[in-house]
Amino acid sequence: MLVHTINEVRECIKKWKKEGLTVGLVPTMGALHNGHLSLIKKSVEKCDKTVVSVFVNPIQFCPGEDLDKYPRTLEADEKLCQNAGVDIVFAPSPKEMYGEGHILSNDFLTYVVPPFFYVDKLCGKSRVGHFDGVCTVVNKLFNIVQPDYAFFGQKDAQQLIIIKKMVKDLNIPVEIIPCPIVREESGLALSSRNKYLSETDKKEALALSKILFNIKACYDKGIKDVDALSETAYGFLNEHHSLEYLEFRDKENLEQKTLADDNTQVFIALRIGSVRLIDNILLG
Ligand code: PAF
Repeated sequence: MLVHTINEVRECIKKWKKEGLTVGLVPTMGALHNGHLSLIKKSVEKCDKTVVSVFVNPIQFCPGEDLDKYPRTLEADEKLCQNAGVDIVFAPSPKEMYGEGHILSNDFLTYVVPPFFYVDKLCGKSRVGHFDGVCTVVNKLFNIVQPDYAFFGQKDAQQLIIIKKMVKDLNIPVEIIPCPIVREESGLALSSRNKYLSETDKKEALALSKILFNIKACYDKGIKDVDALSETAYGFLNEHHSLEYLEFRDKENLEQKTLADDNTQVFIALRIGSVRLIDNILLG
């Protein structure tokens, strides 16, 4: 069932809770692909009822980013959800989520702000305010849907770590279920932003997974020094790539590593023309 208002969702949730049913939430920005589908399948398996939210959240886009051109494919998204056994597709408007005033000026909105230590690095460094927008909307979705479980992809690993921290710090009664990255056969991690890539760009985008897989292979062979592991990346980069970061950090608290170990997660962000792609791999 496709619903656009908070009240409609609340009515269903109230009924389900009364019946003692468990609720799973899969928060998305739409343009659903097989990566999303894997989260949806997990929720449908685990929970009595599944809600998928489809909302291109304006407050998590920084000025000059792709808010206007972000792919919006609600009709196809709804079909995919229906076939996958989703109970509610919640697709609110920005006005429904934030009210008229907030769209005009974010200064009138109460924000959930994650700790600086978690956002002053990786994607947070170039996307200032992005994770405030993510935490704020995810918190609102948790309040609206009151899920027992919420499913997030490990591709956005920094986002996942920050959301887990928010849930713990704010005692939000939901269990976060991390779901593995889904890749094309080529190794490219699925992302709604892959839609921006031309066929040539797509080939260039393979550099991300090649770099990560090669680092993991080197680590498995016994190379632990992060500088030595980082250097192996350069063989995969050419003039079409602009490397934003390649970093080795703790998988739980994002502390930087100088020697890699099984708790080390390698994070990469790469620009191919105007398209910015991210990926990551756990070494352990
Ligand atoms: O990962 C996403 O698609 C978004 O950041 C999320 C979690 C749906 C919040 O808008």
